[in-house]
Amino acid sequence: MSRSQLSLNRLLIKSVWKAARVNRLILVWLFYKVCEGIYFRQLGWGTQIYGRLRFGNAAADIRVGRDCMIGHEVFLSATDTSSVIIGSGCSINNGCHIVSTTKIEIGDETAIGEFVSIRDQNHTFSDPDKAVREQGFTSAPIKIGRDVWIGRGVFVGPGVEIGDKCVIGANSVVVKSLPAYSIAVGSPARVIGTRGVNKSETR
Ligand SMILES: CC(C)(COP(=O)(O)OP(=O)(O)OC[C@H]1O[C@@H](n2cnc3c(N)ncnc32)[C@H](O)[C@@H]1OP(=O)(O)O)[C@@H](O)C(=O)NCCC(=O)NCCS
Repeated sequence: MSRSQLSLNRLLIKSVWKAARVNRLILVWLFYKVCEGIYFRQLGWGTQIYGRLRFGNAAADIRVGRDCMIGHEVFLSATDTSSVIIGSGCSINNGCHIVSTTKIEIGDETAIGEFVSIRDQNHTFSDPDKAVREQGFTSAPIKIGRDVWIGRGVFVGPGVEIGDKCVIGANSVVVKSLPAYSIAVGSPARVIGTRGVNKSETR
């Protein structure tokens, strides 16, 4: 096979592959759009869903804005009285868990790395004579701002507010609120800098 034939074949295969991928994304979007009210209460145009999603309950209040990207094996859960509200232009990477028993809000353009867990509830464990799983939960809403970047493996707990434009380092545990523009890392997450300010000026 000549060199030009080879590159023509390659181009053809790439085009077919791309078209199949785009068609698949459109079909998946259409499926969830037709089922609006069962899986998502609202699903914005252009949101791409790349793999299998898991849902805690049918017909829960889970809303996703336009042009988001949702990866494989993402778990979204809300109760009959709680909600998960994800803005537009967000990315929720593979294996993330977003579990709400009150309210979890995520602002526009926020990027969430793989295996992040955002949960607005903790087990109650005050009675040591009773199994933890029998003691119910305490909950408080979570609010994550716009254009926040959350690294892979982060945990965000109940009652936390993460301000606009924050950056959270991989594997951090965020149990206290962070002001806008914070760069925070570690367990528990501590602020090590401010986005937009030179490292030498803040550290
Ligand atoms: C948070 C992050 C953006 C910081 O980058 P940076 O501003 O270049 O910071 P530096 O590498 O200069 O590190 C600054 C300090 O924070 C520490 N640090 C950085 N990231 C950390 C993390 N995830 N956990 C704990 N400490 C961390 C460094 O050890 C360093 O500590 P020191 O000052 O005591 O030496 C980056 O480290 C990170 O975690 N990125 C996430 C990557 C990721 O998850 N990608 C996949 C998802 S899209």
